[in-house]
Amino acid sequence: MTDLHVIDATADHVDEIVHVIHHAFSARRVLDPPSTALTENATTVGAAVADHGGLLVRIDGAPAGALLFEEDGDVLHLRRVSVDPRHQARGVASAMVGCAEEVAVRRGIRRVQLIARVELPDTVEFWRRRGYSVVEQHDHNLIYAKAMPLELTVPTADDMRAIGEELAGQLRAGDVLVLSGDLGAGKTTFTQGLGAGLKVRGDITSPTFVISRVHPSLAGGPALVHVDAYRLGGFAELDDLDLDASLDDAVTVVEWGHGLAESLAPDRLDIVVTRGDDDTDETREIRITPVGPRWAASGVRVSVLEKN
Ligand SMILES: Nc1ncnc2c1ncn2[C@@H]1O[C@H](COP(=O)(O)OP(=O)(O)OP(=O)(O)O)[C@@H](O)[C@H]1O
Ligand SMILES: [Mg+2]
Repeated sequence: MTDLHVIDATADHVDEIVHVIHHAFSARRVLDPPSTALTENATTVGAAVADHGGLLVRIDGAPAGALLFEEDGDVLHLRRVSVDPRHQARGVASAMVGCAEEVAVRRGIRRVQLIARVELPDTVEFWRRRGYSVVEQHDHNLIYAKAMPLELTVPTADDMRAIGEELAGQLRAGDVLVLSGDLGAGKTTFTQGLGAGLKVRGDITSPTFVISRVHPSLAGGPALVHVDAYRLGGFAELDDLDLDASLDDAVTVVEWGHGLAESLAPDRLDIVVTRGDDDTDETREIRITPVGPRWAASGVRVSVLEKN
């Protein structure tokens, strides 16, 4: 078995990173205009690593992959993403990108972005498969981006509503949110916050008999369609609700939608609410995962709890 390690780069790794970048980029066919990667040297890479960090992958001790970070506000740019051609197709790039996304989440960064050349179909396909979307194109350069998941600890029900309310400000007609989590986790509580933020009519409750309820906007904005899929038998029944008819004009929230509602919306927020085993503890965790091109350019931001 091969031994693959992804290492948070320090000054000690600069020479190996330069080596990988040169091997990777000199093996590529020459593009017009050519990449500037071959001008990288120990000085430029050393400065990049010192300022923003980077990753080095070693396979059985030998340098096999590398990338450089560049942090710019709420974006983490991946630069010089390189795999030594002798180590291609061994999961080096995937491992490296997975770690880069973890670094972004740890640093509290909303989006990861990179540039891929339009002439390289394998590269383009790689980023697409990893959930990246083109957000801009400049000549031969495709700008790929992906919004990062957000994880928050939510001490009280009011905090949960405040998160929903803040998120509502980032939503527009056509958006879909798929909520999952145990009974009583706080999915409806979160939706109440959304309803307050969207300024919609009617109390948002856990519907006992109603599977789907439309809350029209009181402020000229999109309606909130609140679906509880708990009692639905399966996708056919969800399909029967004919949500497609309202999907484009409303913000649609599907509780218990996991495994059902995804096909409604390639662009969505997957939201998971979890509670601990201790019933006396009100603390919840919420994880918000943006999926699809809709979110790639903006990401998701929640800052209400930071003041506490
Ligand atoms: N930190 C918290 N976040 C959310 N709800 C909390 C929190 N602490 C306590 N609660 C309480 O937990 C309950 C959550 O109920 P809610 O109806 O929102 O859950 P749900 O996930 O929609 O459940 P169901 O699966 O039955 O629809 C509410 O009574 C709420 O006041
Ligand atoms: Mg509920």
